[in-house]
Amino acid sequence: MTDTKQITFRIRRYDPDLDTIPHWEEHKLNVPDGMTVLEALQEIKAEQAPTLAWRSSCRMGVCGSCGMFINHLPMLACQTQVLHLGTDVVTVAPLPNYDNVKDLVPNLEPLIQKHAAIKPFIILTNSKEIDEPTGEFIQTPEQRDEYSQFTFCIKCGLCLAACPTVATDPLFLGPQALAQAYRYTVDNRDCGLQERLEAIDAFHGPYQCHMAGACSQACPKGVDPAFGIQLLKRTLVLDSIGFGKKKSSVAKVMPLADIVKQIEEFAPPPRTVGK
Ligand code: FES
Repeated sequence: MTDTKQITFRIRRYDPDLDTIPHWEEHKLNVPDGMTVLEALQEIKAEQAPTLAWRSSCRMGVCGSCGMFINHLPMLACQTQVLHLGTDVVTVAPLPNYDNVKDLVPNLEPLIQKHAAIKPFIILTNSKEIDEPTGEFIQTPEQRDEYSQFTFCIKCGLCLAACPTVATDPLFLGPQALAQAYRYTVDNRDCGLQERLEAIDAFHGPYQCHMAGACSQACPKGVDPAFGIQLLKRTLVLDSIGFGKKKSSVAKVMPLADIVKQIEEFAPPPRTVGK
């Protein structure tokens, strides 16, 4: 039989239809090695608290929906093993810096709105190549490395929950959106900085960042949004004094015929059975 340890879960409960303010509820559970906070919540819900609400989906740290405030730190419940926390009492609350919908469910709408505001997509000044593609956009590994780490963002919102600036200025665009603004702006295929300026180069933009670095510590994917914000500031300053990177209105494309030729050159020789 697997060894277990009894853990007390202090869970913050709030039902807007029944409660005027949130309250704490305690549940004891025998936790085996390897059990995640998400699995513990599932067991508590099944056996002790049938109305307990939270948000989760993939159970493997990919969808970003199970962010919670676990032992006073923003974490993904599905990636956090209970016994690794090293405490006999585990507190679980909804993410701070968001409105609370119910129990452990935060309202992530501001996160999504801020993300949308920075236009998180490649913007071309001439859309002809998008409408009628003649080939693939060329990007060297070095060009991709400039923004690669920021593509790992899963939009879980933990960085906003950790950010002391968001706590005092809810309109601050925040680490997620600003790091993504840098991700797209630095992409050699993108020409959208001027279109993004209205959202980014504003009072609630990157210059509000106090460089606390809490966002980078909270990110479950190893992204460094605090660094992204500093790089974005540099990009904006250089652009404002005319030293921004010049990009062509249409990124260079590799003709389809050349792509086929490259594939043929690198294709392994056909396999022959029995030789
Ligand atoms: S359930 Fe998808 S990240 Fe946790």
